[in-house]
Amino acid sequence: MRKVFYIEGDGIGPEIWAAARPVIDAAIAKEGIEPILWEELLAGNKAVAETGTPLPEETLKSLQGADLAMKGPLGTPVGSGIRSLNVALRQGLDLYACIRPVNHVPGLETPVKHPELVDMVIFRENTEDVYAGIEFAALDPRARKLVDFLRDELGITGISPDSAIGIKPMTEQGSKRLVRMAIKYALDNGRKSVTLVHKGNIMKFTEGAFRQWGYDVARDEFGDLTCMAKAPVAGRLMIKDRIADAMFQEALLHPAEYDVLATPNLNGDYISDALAAQVGGLGMAPGVNMSDRMAFFEATHGTAPDIAGKDKANPTSLILCGAMLLEHIGSKNAGSRIRHAVRRAIDAKRVPGDLAPQIKDGKMVGCREFGEIVGSFI
Ligand code: NAI
Repeated sequence: MRKVFYIEGDGIGPEIWAAARPVIDAAIAKEGIEPILWEELLAGNKAVAETGTPLPEETLKSLQGADLAMKGPLGTPVGSGIRSLNVALRQGLDLYACIRPVNHVPGLETPVKHPELVDMVIFRENTEDVYAGIEFAALDPRARKLVDFLRDELGITGISPDSAIGIKPMTEQGSKRLVRMAIKYALDNGRKSVTLVHKGNIMKFTEGAFRQWGYDVARDEFGDLTCMAKAPVAGRLMIKDRIADAMFQEALLHPAEYDVLATPNLNGDYISDALAAQVGGLGMAPGVNMSDRMAFFEATHGTAPDIAGKDKANPTSLILCGAMLLEHIGSKNAGSRIRHAVRRAIDAKRVPGDLAPQIKDGKMVGCREFGEIVGSFI
């Protein structure tokens, strides 16, 4: 049996996990591939209740030796309290790339006229940028010290001494490995282009450098397989770049011109949710966090506290994470079986509350029942 660790997660996590797991197991059984031995690890509220800490040492240790894992969302208090568990996991396991495929499931009405034109895969850098967790509150003596240092040592004026301060570290190595993974994926999957999404016009030495390092990787490591937008070569992967704000506009106006996106951490966070909304919402958006060693699958959405415990969540994101997991371990057929079952369940028009208003004559069913409906089409 192949071992896969899982973390149920907080909020709607346990509900979507309970609905998704049987669907994944059913696809495995139907395809006759090696079954999965699911092994639970504690994190979040369940871990606090059982061990007194949100991220027990044992969880981190097990994950550090693992190659496959899956998780529901974990809550993070805004503004105070514990640091984000998701960020701690991504950094602790060096899960440097967050990969989110975004495409439309036929039958779903969406806010745009042609959602079927969206077929993008986002590669978001996951360990650097303003997410590095180096941030000091206004009036914290350490923030004051930094302001003093900037003024006295670097001659930077105009920063108010009562500023809150955050730091945005971005490295050549961190940017290049992300872009390298995106280019490899695009080449392996017959994609047409990789777009570097950055804000280099304003943040020249961080985001501007990301853009340059991205082009450097393409030229130095994939020179005979790639081309630049200025000089297109038939049959080669095109590398281009867009400024982040323009990319949001482009995603709405010309989605068919974009394919694989490679982006620093914060831009990637924003564009993932925006693109997910464009094709039918967060409840439909799967993802995977990758290091060179492991693949850690997780839904794009959060704990949805407004509907948690009410059997109202849409488990599709986690079900589609299952499809990605099975494809990742080499069973394209089992992955397709799950995608096909989701499509048929949507065609059947009995769907969770977030989708019902988006489907003509859609009727609302609970999270558990929707999981059973998808399972019945496996
Ligand atoms: P959220 O994604 O939890 O919710 C945003 C909206 O989308 C809510 O109206 C919610 O009901 C709806 N929604 C999300 N997932 C849904 C689903 N599967 N089915 C139906 N509706 C769904 O974002 P929010 O409220 O900003 O964050 C809540 C908590 O989740 C925070 O503590 C945040 O830090 C955490 N979070 C965790 C993530 C992770 O574990 N990867 C990712 C994003 C947020």
